[in-house]
Amino acid sequence: MEKNSKEEENPGENNEEPLVYVAMSADLVHPGHLNVINEARKFGKVILGLLTDKAIASYKRLPYMPFEQRKIVVENIKGVDEVIPQETLDYVPNLLKIKPDYVVHGDDWKEGIQKKTRERVIKTLKKWDGKLIEIPYTPGVSSTKYNEMLKEVGFSPEIRKKRLRRLINSKPIVRILEAHNGLTSLIIENTKIKEKGVKKEFDGVWISSLTDSTAKGKPDTGFIDLTSRINTITQVLESTTKPIIVDGDDGGHIDHFILTIKRLERLGISAIIIEDKKGLKINSLAENGNEQKQENIENFSLKISEGKKAQLTKDFMIIARIESLIMKKGLDDALKRAKAYIKAGADGIMIHSKDETPDEIISFCKEYKKFDKKVPLVVVPSTYSSIKEEELKNLGVNIVIYANQLLRSSYLAMQKTAKEILKNERAYEIDNICASIKDILNLIPSCRKC
Ligand code: SPV
Ligand code: MG
Repeated sequence: MEKNSKEEENPGENNEEPLVYVAMSADLVHPGHLNVINEARKFGKVILGLLTDKAIASYKRLPYMPFEQRKIVVENIKGVDEVIPQETLDYVPNLLKIKPDYVVHGDDWKEGIQKKTRERVIKTLKKWDGKLIEIPYTPGVSSTKYNEMLKEVGFSPEIRKKRLRRLINSKPIVRILEAHNGLTSLIIENTKIKEKGVKKEFDGVWISSLTDSTAKGKPDTGFIDLTSRINTITQVLESTTKPIIVDGDDGGHIDHFILTIKRLERLGISAIIIEDKKGLKINSLAENGNEQKQENIENFSLKISEGKKAQLTKDFMIIARIESLIMKKGLDDALKRAKAYIKAGADGIMIHSKDETPDEIISFCKEYKKFDKKVPLVVVPSTYSSIKEEELKNLGVNIVIYANQLLRSSYLAMQKTAKEILKNERAYEIDNICASIKDILNLIPSCRKC
């Protein structure tokens, strides 16, 4: 492929200077980034390929700053001549467009997830005799370390609140796990695995009425009032940087719902989910769930629209939860309600089911896909837990909530521990299933650090 075959609209066209391509996320800009840019500038005109939020979220945590903000930062770095988006982790699409003479990168990508990317860069550059220049890694700087430090500073309510919408826009599916106190939030914050070079973690927190009530030794009937829920929410806010979705039950009386929204929004909560129930609340998965009454479409739509009017910012989301499948009212009723709630202004639809198979959820998703006006779709696969995220993603689901698993698993573990101590009249036998005291002490940062 000849280098002079570039198309008219390509960046860097008609430039006498050699073209140098540098790609980066530039979320926390540090001297390592500046060093790469300085070195790159010595070879020619620097075109910086800024990874989009989607490209970054495909292999690691969403960046702190959205693309537009990162762009402003890098555009103003000395040595950067032009900034273009890089839509994938793979450089090849941009390289084919620009056909740079050089690509400059730190020499720290020879292993791990970037190894393949590097190989593809080398192979592509060969087509027009381009060269890869690798700059020695700048010692003493590490984005991972800065990320940890930033976590200790915490997140402002405004930044946290916006993150859910950003995640929905950047990830094929957003993965949320239930927390009911500070400890479970720490688990959500800190649990990470790496698979085939891709870092996996939970994207956010669900504050479930079921687990919040159960953890307090109370039934999930709305007895735990907002003040008490706020107490739990505060624990969660202080233990994680991730966005939070609050289970708002039926939202209460419209006048109260409006005040709840304002309060949650000020705290930095990203979304509330309200369900179309009325009367004394019964948990949707409970055996006597059929005794629950469903609110009519008109009243529930009014609650949604009044809630939307009460919002302080456009970032907060009101997600409408449809109970038609739980109450065995059928798919058509669920779809009719989805349309009405979207019309009333809902920012998302949650469709719930307590079947052991995902069949009715699948049917709903297929019909929902055909809607002209769609909002993000949320599911809670508690009873139909066999369905995998990949399948949900293909069905068009945007958010999956694991709504109660931390509470259920900890309950079993704690019960087993209690029984073993009774049986053995000592704790020795269960030491191996307990976290060490050291690990527990290290889990919570000391006050002087926080
Ligand atoms: C919760 O987690 O409190 C929920 C989901 O509302 S469910 O328990 O399935 O109703
Ligand atoms: Mg609930």
